[in-house]
This record gives sequence, structure tokens and C-alpha cells, in this order.
Amino acid sequence: MRTLRAAESVRRLCWTWRAHGDPIGFVPTMGALHSGHRALLRRARKETRRVAASIFVNPLQFGPGEDYDRYPRPFASDVRILKEEGVELLYLPRAERLYPEEFQTRVSVTGIGKVLEGAARPGHFDGVATVVAKLLATVVPDRLYLGQKDAQQATLLRRMVADLDLGVRVVVCPTVREPDGLAVSSRNRYLTPPERDWAPALYRTLSEAADRIRSGETVSPEKAAAWMRRRLARGPGRLEYAAAVDPRDFGPPKRGRPVVLAVAYRLPSARLIDNVVVKTGGRDR
Ligand code: PAF
Repeated sequence: MRTLRAAESVRRLCWTWRAHGDPIGFVPTMGALHSGHRALLRRARKETRRVAASIFVNPLQFGPGEDYDRYPRPFASDVRILKEEGVELLYLPRAERLYPEEFQTRVSVTGIGKVLEGAARPGHFDGVATVVAKLLATVVPDRLYLGQKDAQQATLLRRMVADLDLGVRVVVCPTVREPDGLAVSSRNRYLTPPERDWAPALYRTLSEAADRIRSGETVSPEKAAAWMRRRLARGPGRLEYAAAVDPRDFGPPKRGRPVVLAVAYRLPSARLIDNVVVKTGGRDR
């Protein structure tokens, strides 16, 4: 695996690959890699000839008081995982090179970027869109691999790629879960044992709400979301939102279309998000 820090070196290597006709799959990460990242890397390995990944804890997407400083940075184990998964290029940009003093540009996806996560974490999605636009401009991959766990991020980046004609195919891979249902996340390591015991309640609530929509017991997605809010109001932390939205634009659910049930819950040690997609008349993803 080549580890490159300079955008020019990454660009040069990726151009060589493309000149040989080798499609490139790209998995952007903030490190602290887990089985969810492994699933993205495996899918990329299966579908593209060359796999590139990046590790960059992006300061632009963290708000004041968030966990930028304490975000886990287990570099040696990340490198081991990337090698095990057959990654050929690790792009490891330096913050001062990506964002020099004179840097002034933000990529802002209006609409999708302003609701749920966007409302709870102002500026977060501008930071995500800006860094991913920069990474894509350097790697120029054929396929971009993202996780369904961050459903709103995936929808927003798909919108950005379409709006800016970036010509990369966005592949969204299913959420990887622990045996008890908790969605794997780099932030799960912050949880205390009692918080970890409670955390699967999020997925149980989402699954039960999805069942209610499918069975017709709670007729509308909005009612299912209200039921989730009542249920999660009793937990040990603070519910930030529990909502039903359309997966295409994160606007209100539309009749006959799939629905995303999404939650964000703040425990004392970590903020958790999760979601399920209910295909009306079909199965969950
Ligand atoms: O999902 C993440 O890890 C980050 O938001 C991403 C896409 C790598 C951008 O920093």
C-alpha cells in the first residue's frame, strides 16, 4: 500500500491507473476503522480494479464543543485494516495543506443540508461536502463508497455529485450492526458499559416503528415518528430528533415512496445516530 500525503502525488498515481483503464473505487474515512469500513472497502475491492482510501479527521465538519480533539486516531490499526482489505493507496492529507490560511471556499448543499443532522450540527454538512469535493477532485474515482449508517450524508453527497457534475458513481452500502443491533460506529468506543447496554434500544425502536408502518398499525410514517419520540423520551439521555423523511431529499415522506426513519440521541458520553429505510409494502434495508 502506498501512503501519500501530497495531493499532487495522489493525482499523479491515480492518473496512471486511469491511463491503464483501471477503474478506481474510493472510500473516504476519518480513521478509527471498524467492520463498517471493512464492508465499504470489500465492496470497492469487488467492484473496482484499484481501491484508494483516505484518512482525515476533518476539522471543518466539527462544531465548537464537539469531539474533534478526542476523536480516536488509532493509526497503526487503521493501516493494518487497510492493508488486510487490499487498499493500494492511502491518502493522508495534512490539515494545513487542505486548508491553508487563505482558504475561503465552502460547498453548501442547501435543503438536504439544513434539516435533521444539518439543523442539529450547524455547519457540519458544509464541512463534509467541502472536504469530500476536495478529495474527489484529487482522486477522481469512478465510484465513491459510503455507508447507509450516515444516510443523510450519503443523500447529500449524492446530490452534490449530481449538482456539480462530478461524474462519480455513489455506492451506498448497508449499515453493519453488532449482534445486538447497535450500528457500528467509531464513536461507540466512547460509551460507558451502562450506555452500551442501553444503546441497542435505538435500533429496536426504529425496527418496531418500521414494523408498525408495514403492518398498518400506525398508519402514517409521521405517526410512527411520533411513537418513536414518545418511546425514546424515556431513555437515559436526550433525544435530538426522531423523524420520518423521504430518502431522496430528506423532505416530508411521500405516499407510495420509501421512508427513512432516522434518530439522533445524545447520551452523556456519545451522540448516536441510526436509521432504517422502510420500503412501503416491502422490506427494510
Ligand atoms: O463519514 C465520514 O467518516 C466523514 O464524514 C467523511 C465522509 C470521511 C468526510 O470527512
